Amino acid sequence: MRDRVHVLVGITILATSAGNAFAAGGTESAPAPGPAGEAVPSLAVLYKPYFPIGAALGGATIATQGALLAAQVNSLVAENDMKWEVIHPVSGNEPADYNFGPADKIVAFAQDHGMLARGHNLVWHQQVPAWVFAGADGTPLSATKAEVLARLQEHITTLLRHFKDEVYCWDVVNEALSDRSWRTDSPWHKTAGSSTGGDGIPDYVEKAFEYAREVDPSVKLFYNDYGIESGSKFERAFAFAKALKAKGLLDGIGIQGHWSIYSVDPKAVGRAIERFASLGLQVQITELDLSVYRWGDSSSLASLPPDRAELQARRYGELFRVFREEGVARALAGVTFWGIADDHTWLDHFPVAGRKDRPLLFDERHQPKKAFWAVARW
Ligand code: XIL
Repeated sequence: MRDRVHVLVGITILATSAGNAFAAGGTESAPAPGPAGEAVPSLAVLYKPYFPIGAALGGATIATQGALLAAQVNSLVAENDMKWEVIHPVSGNEPADYNFGPADKIVAFAQDHGMLARGHNLVWHQQVPAWVFAGADGTPLSATKAEVLARLQEHITTLLRHFKDEVYCWDVVNEALSDRSWRTDSPWHKTAGSSTGGDGIPDYVEKAFEYAREVDPSVKLFYNDYGIESGSKFERAFAFAKALKAKGLLDGIGIQGHWSIYSVDPKAVGRAIERFASLGLQVQITELDLSVYRWGDSSSLASLPPDRAELQARRYGELFRVFREEGVARALAGVTFWGIADDHTWLDHFPVAGRKDRPLLFDERHQPKKAFWAVARW
């Protein structure tokens, strides 16, 4: 009964809000009616009693998907525009060394639409310019640990001040764990990865959280990673989260959610969410998409076959059923998709470059897929 009310309320409200968004939106076509003939409801509205619904975007997708995003989500994250490579491309810590334009556009879009904005990310082993780790003569990876940490502190201080009161949480460190241990092949690890804290946590990881806490004690600090919902990576993430939380440095865990329709285990995801929450942490699903390929399969499909569309809908439905369960919903502080519609997905370039994937809830023409209805109706 309770669930039914949510659905009905959602659809009623949405009829207005989506209508406005599409009328204002420009190039996109109006949404198709659902299977039972109803207008396309807003996930943000439907899930309001549970958690914010988010999506990743960039300058290009603000232009091509803006109306759909405005209709469907109430939280945004920059797909790339807050990463070092974009926002801090050249060395130095003067205003001219930063490129805030693209990220500012995203934050402004969020504010114009009354949406939350997440920050992604401050430390990652990818998309960081070489200067960050170079020594005085430019030799790659020859900077001292002190130099790297000083650059990190300046960067974090500048970004957190710039986005103060606009970005409510940050993925402070992204993917510092490998499948077996810490990610030792990261340039951060190579230059500033030794551990002096006595608990094995690499110094660059702990320092990043310390610097962030120092600049802005109110912004929520997250550790974000993939594969931390199960197995030994869960155990290691759990131990590390517990240690950082005990030091007062961690507020939340981001489980990325780049899964395949063939291998996601929704129940395990639910268990992991509750376990992390038992540490007193918020948990978010931060980068949700469900590839229609098996891992290791490099074949390519010209369109989405009905059986895979069905399986994708089933998996999305199972995941969101778990997300709505009482204990899980209480622990879950947000679900963010890594994109919104299949015309723009990073999975077209990964793990097989140039292969079309269709991992999201809307198709390339921005029409709701079966997967959308599996998430929107319960
Ligand atoms: C991806 C972006 O989607 C791509 O556009 C970019 O080329 C590479 O990075 N895990 C993360 C995200 O934390 O930042 C990544 O985003 C996807 C995997």
